[in-house]
Amino acid sequence: MLVLGVESSCDETGVALYDTERGLVAHALHSQVAMHGEYGGVVPELASRDHIRRVLPLTHKVMDESVRTLTDLDGIAYTQGPGLAGALLVGAGMARALAYALGIPAVGVHHLEGHLLSPLISDTPPEFPFVALLVSGGHTQLMQVAGVGRYALLGETLDDAAGEAFDKTAQLLGLGYPGGPALAKLAASGDAARFSLPRPMLNSGDFDFSFSGLKTAVLTLVKKAGAGVAADIAAAFEAAAVDVLVGKSLAACAHVSARRLVVAGGVGANARLRDQLTREAARRGIEVFYPRLEFCTDNGAMIAFAGAQRLAAGVVGDDMGFPVRPRWELAALDAVG
Ligand code: KG4
Ligand code: ZN
Repeated sequence: MLVLGVESSCDETGVALYDTERGLVAHALHSQVAMHGEYGGVVPELASRDHIRRVLPLTHKVMDESVRTLTDLDGIAYTQGPGLAGALLVGAGMARALAYALGIPAVGVHHLEGHLLSPLISDTPPEFPFVALLVSGGHTQLMQVAGVGRYALLGETLDDAAGEAFDKTAQLLGLGYPGGPALAKLAASGDAARFSLPRPMLNSGDFDFSFSGLKTAVLTLVKKAGAGVAADIAAAFEAAAVDVLVGKSLAACAHVSARRLVVAGGVGANARLRDQLTREAARRGIEVFYPRLEFCTDNGAMIAFAGAQRLAAGVVGDDMGFPVRPRWELAALDAVG
């Protein structure tokens, strides 16, 4: 089964082609980061307009690279939510119209399900069940995953998402938007032990997170510490955030007796998180799976893959409508298969 995937929930337009027999065939991405950088964050109206400009050229690129034609497609998957309503409508409208013209099903995919299943786009995918740590710019959740669509929420952030905390801390240090990768780069040359920052809720006994206090602690530190210590502050922040993410993830695995942990979302690209988590998990006999680095942040491949799982399992595509769902709980999805 050959499925085209379209992602347009936020500031990246992603298109990809996934074959359930052969794996990922082709993928293309356009990031709007440079466009929004000028404003210090995503401007929704500009995001929608840029998705309109990019989505068809990217689709042509993917089809050309794949040496397949549109008539080879068996279905089209698009991000239905959560995300920016106007941005979602661009991908949804294009996908629905193309599916109608081709007489094939279109299926709306949950953006976080895309992230969550992205480590399965691999020659050595993890088997179900597993615990998933979802750490993106908008979400921080620990999920118990029994199969496609079988997700139970173990815990989530009570305030800022992990990626948001990286971005806001980066902003405090004057690193621009989105600051996560820049902060990680600066932290690599810093001394994480020079300043000590809190590990919020590390020992709260549940699987929830809170990152807004950490951001405030950084603000206080920035004001007090003066110039020339940005790298040390970045390293101290990263160490604190990673300690919490690692501690909570392993506690969640122990709680549900999971032997496999999957990490997904933009912060899953963080090298310190990957190193520390893999090391500490191995000590407890837990194997950790990550997406390819390029599939940590938003992309079309994860949407094509998640949509293909649903269509291959017999999920019927949507009818002629394409309602987007800017707010949508992952645990509300139907089980598949
Ligand atoms: O998954 P994603 O594209 O966003 C949402 O769907 O919300 O992830 C973007 C987030 C941003 O907050 C970005 O700063 C963060 O992931 N990020 C990182 C790194 N690379 C991206 N955070 C820490 N370290 C990184 N290397
Ligand atoms: Zn995302």
